[in-house]
Formats: sequence, C-alpha cells, structure tokens
Amino acid sequence: MRFTVLTLFPEMFSPLQASILKRAQAAGLIQVNVVNFREYADNKHKSVDDVPYGGGAGMVLKPDPLFAALRALPEPHGSRQVILLSPQGQVFDQALARALACEDELVFICGHYEGFDERIRALADQELSLGDFVLTGGELAASVMIDAVARLVPGVLGQSESLKEESHGDGVLEYPQYTRPVEFEGQRVPEILLSGHHANIERWRRKEALWRTFQKRPDLFERTVFLASDYPLLEELRQEHPEMEVFAEKWRALAPLPKKRRGREPEQGNNPA
Ligand SMILES: C[S@@+](CC[C@H](N)C(=O)[O-])C[C@H]1O[C@@H](n2cnc3c(N)ncnc32)[C@H](O)[C@@H]1O
Repeated sequence: MRFTVLTLFPEMFSPLQASILKRAQAAGLIQVNVVNFREYADNKHKSVDDVPYGGGAGMVLKPDPLFAALRALPEPHGSRQVILLSPQGQVFDQALARALACEDELVFICGHYEGFDERIRALADQELSLGDFVLTGGELAASVMIDAVARLVPGVLGQSESLKEESHGDGVLEYPQYTRPVEFEGQRVPEILLSGHHANIERWRRKEALWRTFQKRPDLFERTVFLASDYPLLEELRQEHPEMEVFAEKWRALAPLPKKRRGREPEQGNNPA
C-alpha cells in the first residue's frame, strides 16, 4: 500500500521512519512518499500562501501549488483516495482506518497556517479530522492516520492475532493484560490467567472487556453489538454492578429461549376418570 503526503514540512514525517513502519517499508509492504508542494509554486519566491480576501488574520494556502503537486503524482496503480486534513472533517476512527486499509493508495493533503483556499476542497475525496481540536498543521494528523491504517495492512504486524482482540476491534476495549512478575508491589496477576484453562481465560477476558468498556467508554458500550455468548457475562456483570441495569434492555433480546418440554403435556379436563 502506498501513502503519499503533500506537505510544506516533510521533516515532520520522521516518526514514520522508525520501528514497525520502518520495517514494513523495508519489506516493501508499504511505501511512504512525502512531497513538498512548495516545489510546485510557480513564482520566484516559491510562496504558497497569501492573505485572505475580505481581510482577517493569518495566511491562507493558495490553490495552484497543491493542484500542480497532485496532478504531478504518478498514475495510481489501483484505487486511490485523496484525503484533506481538516478540523471540519469527519472524525477519524478505527472503522475508517479499516475502510482506508482496503485502498491501494492514500494521498493526504496537509493544510497549515490559517487554513486553505476553499477551492482546494475540490481535490479531495474526503475530509478527515483527527478530533475536535485545532492543530497547527495537518502533518501530525496525517502521521497518526498513516500509522493506524498501515498496521492493518496484512503482514505489517507480525502476529495478526494481536489485531483480532485489540481495543475497537469489535466495538469493545481490550481486556487487561499482565506479564511477569506474578506479583509487583503488592498487586498480583489474577489467578485465572495463571490457571492454564483456556476456555475460562477467554470467558474472563471477554467479561473484563465488556466491563471495562462500560466503565471507561459508556458511549461505545451503548453502540456495541453484543454476541449471543455475551448474554451470561452481561447478566453476571449486571448483578455485580447494578449501575449496568440502565443498559440491560440492550442485551435482553439475547436471552436464550426457554427449553421446550419433552413429551406431551398431560391432557386436562376431558379425561375419563
Ligand atoms: C490552524 S489549522 C486551520 C484551522 C482553520 N482556520 C479552521 O478553523 O477550520 C491549519 C491546518 O491544520 C490542519 N488541522 C488542524 N486541526 C486538525 C484536525 N483536528 N484534524 C486534522 N487536521 C487538522 C488542517 O490541515 C488545517 O488546514
């Protein structure tokens, strides 16, 4: 998969040259291509911004260098999405990361200064935001999105197992994890994790994940699509933590159907005595 970034500050992408993403690039699983669109400014001073029409503070990115930089990119081999980084865009999340990981190329346009000329929006297939706050530029937002998408590209993470159960994978947060030592400053690893009983460990982890999601992110919990196998865990949690009752309607439909009685019901009324 190819990631192309149009930016005025290529040096801000050095974090992508370390650790897992560095290895993924060396293995040819992903490519990161950073383009300084100042090179496409068609004026003596290579200026890329100007004052806003109508007045106001700050400088606005001009359309022509960005249009020229995008047009100069090599033809995509497959699908390409052009993403404009903006605090006004759809907020990026794991579902979007998964959808973007299916593309062959993502092109990120990083704004800076006071923002960009409105006509630049026409270049983009989608406008994405890192969150409801304002950054000085789109570079950090692009790096975060590249990291989140790249790790979903097959082969980038050594163990694809780690993708299966992590937070946001299926709408719940990940269960608590422990490693050696068994006891640290008076805190012990839960006994069940030392038991070697895999089915019980799986059950404990799912229950903890559900409880943790309820506690930390009730907004996520409200949207979680539970599995039928979650029903007994949720019922146990409801009894242990009565505050979960507010959501109990969400999982009532998962209650197992009452078992059918075997044989015929004894007839009543008309039996000759
Ligand atoms: C200072 S911001 C401009 C904000 C703009 N004046 C506004 O109010 O919408 C400069 C650039 O940083 C990037 N940026 C800022 N906040 C962002 C966010 N939350 N997510 C993604 N990009 C952001 C955008 O590319 C933006 O053009």
